[in-house]
Amino acid sequence: MPGHYFSLKIMDIEKKIVLTGMQPTGILHLGNFLGAANNWKKMLDAYTCYFFIPNQHAITVPQIPANLRHGTLNCVAQYIACGLDPEKCTIFIQSQIIGHTELAWILGCLTPLGQLYRMHQFKDKSSKNENIYSGLLYYPVLMAADILLYNADFVPTGEDQKQHVELARDLAEKFNGTYSETFTVPSPMIEKTGARIMSLKAPEHKMSKSDPDGNGTIYITDEPKIIQKKIASALTDSTNKIANDPERPGMVNLLNIYCAATGIATADAEEKFKIYQGYAPFKKEVADALIALLEPVQKKYKSIKDDKEYLQSVAQKGAETVQPIAQGTLSKVYRKIGFLGN
Ligand code: TYM
Repeated sequence: MPGHYFSLKIMDIEKKIVLTGMQPTGILHLGNFLGAANNWKKMLDAYTCYFFIPNQHAITVPQIPANLRHGTLNCVAQYIACGLDPEKCTIFIQSQIIGHTELAWILGCLTPLGQLYRMHQFKDKSSKNENIYSGLLYYPVLMAADILLYNADFVPTGEDQKQHVELARDLAEKFNGTYSETFTVPSPMIEKTGARIMSLKAPEHKMSKSDPDGNGTIYITDEPKIIQKKIASALTDSTNKIANDPERPGMVNLLNIYCAATGIATADAEEKFKIYQGYAPFKKEVADALIALLEPVQKKYKSIKDDKEYLQSVAQKGAETVQPIAQGTLSKVYRKIGFLGN
């Protein structure tokens, strides 16, 4: 979706609602950051923002309880480190709110099974794994509930979540059509650059925490030396020209990373680098841009990551803000479908 959303001038009109989240399964990687978190802070003034930690999603694959517990609070720290000022937005933990799984059940009763089997992410994950649980199939319905519970207008994510947001749209329209106008129909909000950051070692696959080659993924806490090393060893080709050529996925990925990190348009970056001979000086600039971008994030993260009391207080305040909203939506939905009130 175009960047003009970010420059919306809000005067007396009610702010639109933005909702999104990241799974608390470790340190965010560059894809999470450039495709999502780094854009979120630009929305704080123009929108009413809800950033949540989808820990109920995380258990669709096996988790070690202690890691999930630690990772959830640590995710709060990472959100804040990425610029999400808790004074300007609401940060909350999914499992602390009553309503997400309740609404998911109701929406699931409106979701054709075939639509879930067609989800790219389900097909991809289930093809790699022998033990598939029904939670993995049902996951997009829970995601739709996350979005519709708060009547979000926009859902900022990377490209890989677009199909899931489209399901949320379908379900909002279906519910509204069946039971009368209830939900806002949400729109995906996807930035052009950064929406699909690929592995540095296998650029035909998206960057992910599960990349078998550790050098394929940069984490937001990676030290400058590590970033330099990973970028220097990123897969390119023998052409030695810096160009946005779709036939050269490694090259395109590095250029995309550079543009997303600096805000420079692709054509301008191509122009800037066209006189460069070989990849080494270009890669150095990519690494330098990332190091500069991540430096304040790392500093903030280090200063708050162990302050459990503070992080818990942020989540607690978030829960107090959103629980009444979730309850309000759920009561309305229950009434419309014919459940008795309590
Ligand atoms: P998750 O945790 O997989 O990813 C978090 C965000 O990072 C983006 N992302 C990427 N962007 C660019 N390049 C990549 N390689 C890359 N990898 C990940 C994702 O698009 C996402 O924006 N289902 C969601 C979490 C969720 C959610 C929601 C999001 C649950 N409920 C409701 C929005 C609204 C997920 O697993 O994201």
